[in-house]
Order: sequence, then structure tokens, then C-alpha cells
Amino acid sequence: MIKFLLLLGVALVPMSAFLSEFVEKLFHGEESDVFGPVARIPYSDLLNNNPYVDPFVLHSMKHYGFFYVVDVPGYNASTELNLMHKFYDLPEEVKANIEIRRHNPANPNAYRGYCPGLDDVENTLQYKNLYNIGPHEVRAPMTSQKDDDLMKKLRYDIQEPNVWPSTEDCEFDKEFKETFQEGFEIRRNIARAFVRSISRALEFPELTSLFAEDEFSAMGLRKYPVRKRVNENMYSDHDDTLLRELEHVDSTITVLTTFNNPGLQMLYEGVYRDAPVSDNGFIVNIGKLVDDIIDNQLVSVKHRVKETEFDRYSITYFLGPQFDADISRSMSGAMTEAGRKYTIFGEWIKDYLGAIELFYY
Ligand SMILES: *[C@@H]1O[C@H](CO)[C@@H](O)[C@H](O)[C@H]1NC(C)=O
Repeated sequence: MIKFLLLLGVALVPMSAFLSEFVEKLFHGEESDVFGPVARIPYSDLLNNNPYVDPFVLHSMKHYGFFYVVDVPGYNASTELNLMHKFYDLPEEVKANIEIRRHNPANPNAYRGYCPGLDDVENTLQYKNLYNIGPHEVRAPMTSQKDDDLMKKLRYDIQEPNVWPSTEDCEFDKEFKETFQEGFEIRRNIARAFVRSISRALEFPELTSLFAEDEFSAMGLRKYPVRKRVNENMYSDHDDTLLRELEHVDSTITVLTTFNNPGLQMLYEGVYRDAPVSDNGFIVNIGKLVDDIIDNQLVSVKHRVKETEFDRYSITYFLGPQFDADISRSMSGAMTEAGRKYTIFGEWIKDYLGAIELFYY
């Protein structure tokens, strides 16, 4: 196709400068706007189970592995971004109060809270600051007192209540908490409505029941500070691009906010290409665990973030299956890759958190 257009362009030059310019545009359009056809779904239609969205969501997820949610009533990404700036600009000793227990033993949470980027990892691709918010404001009561009820204990353990910043500016504290509680709700709504859409489109009615609870959904406010040093491990094995976030496939369902920050690239037909920014909407994609559950009917897209020359802010939201969801079998009954090791999602989470603790500790 590209070759054909080139030939056409060359042939047309002597005939008409206008036509050749037109072909030129077509040619460049194809190169730079390969993600132009990715679906942009209005939030209200997705949430209201409007079936007209299903083929668009399905096509984008089968072809590209992601789509956009736009026109979210009452949502303003700039408000979130401004609050993130203010949060990260707080003095370290204020943020220290809500650090996870690795850094602050007074916080019993291993996961929900603030995790500063550590100096000794500045040399690695993992250098970022993260503040993690979950669905719980208080801890649900323990449902079993028996020591041998390990799964019940684990379910209790992972439901860590949020810790919110407490500064001398009550207005800020209030606005921060309310904005991100609302932001969490919007992202969870999107992820669940997406599950309903693909369960209709793929005719997997049982899929939605795996996502009825969200004991471990997680929203991360991320800051990737400008890196002062670069080493050879930070270059892509794929094409030598200098990276800020390594090339990876997610695990569960992701609702991503990149604001207007460039850098995110999605793999498409063997090439990493710039994904349009989320602007005032969201980017939705799925990871391997979920793709396996739906018999790999969609694409779990490989993605990465290129190095940027500014402090880059983004927000991730992950919706996993509920704690006791059987992740060992796909919708058609085949054994999943996770199924070789785990039966329920809770067991998977245990290892996932273990890996996080190993990394941060
Ligand atoms: C979003 O909020 C910013 C201030 O935080 C404001 O300047 C902007 O006009 C708002 N945008 C919309 C669409 O309401």
C-alpha cells in the first residue's frame, strides 16, 4: 500500500502539484496516524450498556488492543493533574506521613500509600514516585478468626484502607481526597462497563460475575522525575529507543490517564508507535491474565514509555477479577497460563504483592 502510494506520488508530480501534495498527505497520514481509527467511546454510552458501542470496542480491542473513553460528564483531567503537582510538591516530611510501611512503620499498609522513588534505583528503569489509592476507606472486618484460614486472612490483608495526605491546608486535603475518590469511581465504572461490553460482544455472559467485587483494584498517581543519569540498560532491546518505562504487557484491565504527555507507545504490527494522549479522557487496555480468561479473543497490547525531558505524570487504574474468581479456566473451559499455578485470583495477588515487596524492600 505504501509502495503503491509512493509510486502514485512520483507518477503524479509532473501532472499536478496539487494532486501530489494530496497524495503526500495521504502517505504521511498513514504513517503518523495509524491509531486514528482506534475507537473513541462516549462515557455515558459505555456506562449505559448502549449496545451500539460493542462492535467499536470489540474491533479496537481485537485490532489494536486499546481504545479511548471520552466525554466524561463532570470530569476534568486538569483538576487531577493540578492536584498531583501540588501533592508531589509537598515537603517530603509531609508525604512521609503516608508512606507505605517499608518507609514508615506507622502505616500498616504495604501497598496503599506513598512510595517515594528511591535514589538507588535512579539508575534503573524503575525510577518513579507512586501514590496508591484503593477502593477501601476502612478495613472490612475479619470474617474468620481461625489461623489456618489463610485465604480469609489474605482477603482481609489486601483490603488496605486508603491513607490521604494531611497538610495545613484543609481545603487542599479535602479537594484532593474528593477528586481522587471520584476519579477512582469513574475509572472503576469504565473498567466494569468495558467488561459488560465485551461479555456481550464475545457472548461470554459469565465474564461479568468474575468482576462483581474489586477487593484489589488500584489507582496509582505516578510521577516519573526527569532522570539525571542514563545507562545502557535503559535502551530498548527491540529498537534501541531510550525508555522511561520498560516494554511490558499488563495483567488485568487498565484505565490509563496520560493527560497531554507524549511518550506512551503501543506495539502495532511489530513497531512501537506513539499512542494519542488521553487528554480529557482515558485509554483502556487489557493484560494477559484477562486475555487468557477470554480465550485470547482480544489483543493484550505490549507498550512502553519513551524517555521524556520533563517530569512526566500519569495515572494508572487496574481492575482485576474479584478475590475468589476462578482464573484457572478460560470462558471456554481451557486451562489458562495462570491456572498452572493458581486457582483463584487471591492466590495470584499474594504472589504479585510478594514480588512488589521484594522489589521495594
Ligand atoms: C478544567 O479545570 C481547569 C482548572 O483546573 C480550567 O482551567 C478548565 O477550564 C477546566 N476545563 C473544563 C472543560 O471545564
